[in-house]
Amino acid sequence: MAAPVLLTNPLREAMQLERTPDPCTMVIFGATGDLTRRKLMPALYNLALEGLLPHGFSVIGFSRPDHTLASSQDALSAFRERFKTSVKSFSRRPIEPAVWDTFAQNTEWVAGEFTRAEDYQSLRAKLQEVDREHGAGGNRIFYLATPPSFYSEIVRHLGEAGLVTNRATGQGWTRIIIEKPFGRDLATAKALNDEILKVFKEEQVYRIDHYLGKETVQNILVFRFANGIFEPIWNRNFVDHVQITVAESIGIEGRGTYYEEAGALRDMVQSHMLQLLALTAMEPPGAFDAEAVRNEKVKVLQALRPIQNFEVAEFTVRGQYGPGWVAGEYVPGYRQERGVNPNSTTETYVALKVFVDNWRWAGVPIYIRHGKRLPKRVSEIAIQFKNAPHSPFIRAAQLPSEPNLLVMRIQPNDGISLRFAAKMPGTVMGMRAVNMDFTYDEAFDVEAPDAYERLLMDCMIGDSTLFTRKDEVEASWKFITDILDGWCELAKVTEVRFPNYDAGTWGPPAADAFIERDGREWRRP
Ligand SMILES: NC(=O)c1ccc[n+]([C@@H]2O[C@H](COP(=O)([O-])OP(=O)(O)OC[C@H]3O[C@@H](n4cnc5c(N)ncnc54)[C@H](OP(=O)(O)O)[C@@H]3O)[C@@H](O)[C@H]2O)c1
Repeated sequence: MAAPVLLTNPLREAMQLERTPDPCTMVIFGATGDLTRRKLMPALYNLALEGLLPHGFSVIGFSRPDHTLASSQDALSAFRERFKTSVKSFSRRPIEPAVWDTFAQNTEWVAGEFTRAEDYQSLRAKLQEVDREHGAGGNRIFYLATPPSFYSEIVRHLGEAGLVTNRATGQGWTRIIIEKPFGRDLATAKALNDEILKVFKEEQVYRIDHYLGKETVQNILVFRFANGIFEPIWNRNFVDHVQITVAESIGIEGRGTYYEEAGALRDMVQSHMLQLLALTAMEPPGAFDAEAVRNEKVKVLQALRPIQNFEVAEFTVRGQYGPGWVAGEYVPGYRQERGVNPNSTTETYVALKVFVDNWRWAGVPIYIRHGKRLPKRVSEIAIQFKNAPHSPFIRAAQLPSEPNLLVMRIQPNDGISLRFAAKMPGTVMGMRAVNMDFTYDEAFDVEAPDAYERLLMDCMIGDSTLFTRKDEVEASWKFITDILDGWCELAKVTEVRFPNYDAGTWGPPAADAFIERDGREWRRP
């Protein structure tokens, strides 16, 4: 393995300089929520620690007042304390008192109910005050870390309160970050886009999918398009099939109410997994910029062959876990989880066979699977190549050779490995599959930032390459909605028999039969 690459200070400084954002203020709606606590606050603090936040940067938390606190000064102190506690618990690096003190000084709070127009006027006054004191020049990011049912209403109030400006007016820029889920089917995603685009322009809208902020996900593009040797074989002539796996060993972590409404297909496949598919299958963009990259991704999503109602049984498998053993611990079944209907038919496992109907991928199946309470936590994309057209080793072979396999591991043990056949030492021509392996940890002596750090920074800079565009979201929902409709139709004629896999196993037996029908098998990473 080559020596680790150390990024020297001048190189880091040059990269940093190129990415210095304008002064700005970030308003977090849902400032007391789980996402803010576990992801946003630690990400902002780590950016401060790296010296990456612009001068004049402030955060304003917008949340419901705690009536046990006597004054707004007490509420602000409580908010700062909450911020500090979450950084202590979830930051990848510990608190440095000097950095924290400066950072905390730039943290403000506004009492707000999402549905009350006058609270947006208080927010407006606070933003003006912050602009005056910190010189943020009217530049604003609104982060909607809220239940999705409030997205439209908050956007409307922001518009009505005159809080959405654009650079052309000389009042600074406004951007909005919207969390997933973005809709629950094609109709609701379109309706939400329409509502948002009444108030914001598309270039102001940052629909976040935190998978795109992961280093290893971005590395798919670097691996494919910064190297000359892979693209020529990245197509139907050389690829037998692709397997995209996002396996989780955890269950629903107390989010029963949310998960009952969502299910595995909506929760994971519509967003993260179709993004992985798009990055794996897209054509090379002319440049690494927001429009070029997203133009290519959307073409893939629009080329997904629809799975019609009558085809869902052939192209999809659903599952739900029952009780079982995971990592030596006995865990309850999905139907026994808090907030879950004891007769629930929500899927916690899904496998799909997908085709991208274009010149490059014609006839190459892309198998997607995601499940909860599987034996391991692993996310990867495995490209299996076709066998050599002729083997001269037939008579001498000791073991059958395995096809070449390229695995891009997203987590854990992030990296890439390539499997190929090697001669076994000895006097006969025996062979065995071996792996050539790259891992991030060994190759780079730099700790990767959390996905949210990268994405918050990109939004401050105004780079939406790693955020999803309106047409992308709608194309992915179109594909998913067909499957949801097909499942509804199927349920009218065939009883859904759940649970159909034990926690701690690799999903329902039907999923194995599904891929074995094609003469293939799932990887067991
Ligand atoms: N949590 C994650 O890891 C995660 C991951 C990916 C995406 N997301 C998405 O991020 C969003 C937030 O998720 P979350 O887990 O942080 O949710 P959460 O813990 O339920 O937080 C919701 C926040 O909204 C506030 N809120 C709700 N109704 C309000 C109202 N009428 N007025 C003012 N504030 C109100 C809550 O305040 P109170 O405390 O006063 O109720 C809380 O601060 C969701 O869209 C979710 O799908 C979350």
